Amino acid sequence: FAIYAPYIKAINALKKERNAVILGHNYMTPEIYHGVSDFVGDSLQLAMKAQDVKADIIVQAGVHFMAETSKILSPEKTVLMPDMKAGCSLAESITAEGIEEMRAKYPGAPVVSYVNTTAEVKAASDICCTSSNAVQIVNAMESDTVIMTPDQYLAQNVANESHKNVVYWPGACIVHEQYTAQDLRDFREWNPGTQMIAHPECPPEVVAEADFSGSTSGIIKYVTEQKPKMAMLITECSMAANIADELPGVDFVGPCNMCPYMKKISLEKILYVLHTGENEVLVDPEMAEKARQSVEAMIDLSR
Ligand code: 13P
Ligand code: SF4
Repeated sequence: FAIYAPYIKAINALKKERNAVILGHNYMTPEIYHGVSDFVGDSLQLAMKAQDVKADIIVQAGVHFMAETSKILSPEKTVLMPDMKAGCSLAESITAEGIEEMRAKYPGAPVVSYVNTTAEVKAASDICCTSSNAVQIVNAMESDTVIMTPDQYLAQNVANESHKNVVYWPGACIVHEQYTAQDLRDFREWNPGTQMIAHPECPPEVVAEADFSGSTSGIIKYVTEQKPKMAMLITECSMAANIADELPGVDFVGPCNMCPYMKKISLEKILYVLHTGENEVLVDPEMAEKARQSVEAMIDLSR
């Protein structure tokens, strides 16, 4: 951590000077998560924080759709992205035309879009969801058939917990789609007693094999409360790295996968955008207004 100290010091000083806050997603590396983030959390918690926080500038230590969500909810603030190329395979898998295609195929069915989408897609949807409230949001829809976009696996996992007929777009997260149920069975055989904890972006057969499934913050809460002897976090690698020090009795075992988009964010890039004000995220106001309705409808149902 010592090699990061000059960056951490400079960022924290500049944050005060500029009245800026850093919203850090749970997938940030430990020096960002613990060193400079003012708030850390899952997508829902960060969206709520963007809405409530008092600051002139938000630096989004996460991926681009998260920064757009912050801008949509807080249009008066300047939102900066440390790296504009920090995208998301799910957000890239669908456009507003895709939403219209689904509406044409399932007339009258409401569209629930994952927050891992562009502002354009949120604007074309009826309501958003995150991994922590997806079942609740889908169940709250009046119609029996509900369209979920763009994550096919989240949709299938929700369908398994809901009484709705969930139809979906075939997108996937490149980090979570790589896990297989056989990986989990093999690992359990080699390391009996390991608690397996999976993100709901994993395929349903992986979630079925796991002991618990939840959003990134749900996973942290579960491990912190249960304190298993051995835990395999079936999600992005930084999750275990961020909580391992606070949980010395838990052995974090097994493979993890890195998100190449999240890993584009570094202390150097955070310092650079704070210093220069470059990489401001802007959303067309008319589109932002429509997207805000979808995001706020979700937040209202989740509070
Ligand atoms: P969470 O909402 O669970 O933090 O998920 C965000 C994400 O991108 C997971 O891959
Ligand atoms: Fe997107 Fe998957 Fe990376 Fe999350 S982990 S930002 S869903 S690619």
